[in-house]
Amino acid sequence: RDKKDISRSLKKRPVSRRRSCEKHTKTETFQDNITLPFSPLLTDSFGRRHSYLRISLTEKCNLRCQYCMPEEGVKLTPRGQLLSISEIMTLARLFVREGVDKIRLTGGEPLIRPDVLDIIAELRKLEGLKTIAVTTNGMNLARLLPRLKHAGLDLINISLDSLVPAKFEFIVRRKGFHKVMEGIDKALDMGFNPVKVNCVVMRGVNEDELLDFVALSEKKPLEVRFIEYMPFDGNKWNFKKMVSYQEMLDHIRQQWPNLEMLQTGHTDTAKTFKVPGFQGQMGFITSMSDHFCGSCNRLRITADGNLKVCLFGNSEVSLRDLLRSGASDAELLHTIGAAVGRKKKQHAGMFSISQMKNRPMILIGG
Ligand code: 5AD
Ligand code: SF4
Repeated sequence: RDKKDISRSLKKRPVSRRRSCEKHTKTETFQDNITLPFSPLLTDSFGRRHSYLRISLTEKCNLRCQYCMPEEGVKLTPRGQLLSISEIMTLARLFVREGVDKIRLTGGEPLIRPDVLDIIAELRKLEGLKTIAVTTNGMNLARLLPRLKHAGLDLINISLDSLVPAKFEFIVRRKGFHKVMEGIDKALDMGFNPVKVNCVVMRGVNEDELLDFVALSEKKPLEVRFIEYMPFDGNKWNFKKMVSYQEMLDHIRQQWPNLEMLQTGHTDTAKTFKVPGFQGQMGFITSMSDHFCGSCNRLRITADGNLKVCLFGNSEVSLRDLLRSGASDAELLHTIGAAVGRKKKQHAGMFSISQMKNRPMILIGG
């Protein structure tokens, strides 16, 4: 963060702090890429600095991915109970003031929210926010890309779980493969870099396409990210359906033994590799077999306004209710700081998670 950002966040830091300065100073070398002071409110009791906020814009989606939502759908929160654009901006402003420098918009499918372009344009005005990203299923992407770029979007992740149109339709329970591919190509043509493609790997469904996905990165400068299948309510997860990172890597290495592992930043969730000579690269999100809780820098706000400090934790606090009761910035920050302070060291492990009550993924936002 540049000097201006730092003096701004220092100036605005509330007087009453959860942690003493001494403890705060001790955490300063925890994340080796940031050695400057960071908001004590967004620093948890394990020294993790939460500079990345994911905001879900809607619970609705134009697809029905099997790993994300139950077939029968989910009960949607009435519209009036979802965060409005002005509530989203109030919260975003507070978090950015405290040191969040990256915001990702998720869903449901964020690009179906009618005011998504206004939200991005408003976020773009926040001084200190370096990166605005979106995770989309790509269905509306090609059409919206020029306006997304104009509004100030920096980064795009697109979900794509099969390169076989009929299988794509089976997984997402809808048609649309070609629209997604068109969106990916257009994002590349428009110079978005990196363009990441998220592929949730499921045994017996798409694990036979790993090599085809890697091959996609030969001519296209994409990052294909293989995601271990995670358990969420209603997604019928079981251990046998999960393909581990190690298994994927072994399989890909048989085809490309000279795979090179790339350096990543401390808080990156993907382990990344490149086939020499390929334009793009691949990444593995190993949430199940090798969790990255120790360097987690993420917080989430659900579309109905709950702050979730861990994807796999069911503790939530309603920022919407606080906002609507007329809470001051200081009161909001106090609640946010307390929730961050309660964040656990790591998630409970995949078997406990699969037994635990949480939201279905579509109501969390990835
Ligand atoms: N396991 C792994 N990743 C998931 N996603 C959704 N549900 C799951 C799951 N059960 C990810 C997908 C998608 C993003 C919105 O969330 O990668 O791209
Ligand atoms: Fe929709 Fe994304 Fe969930 Fe698929 S994974 S149903 S595209 S929100």
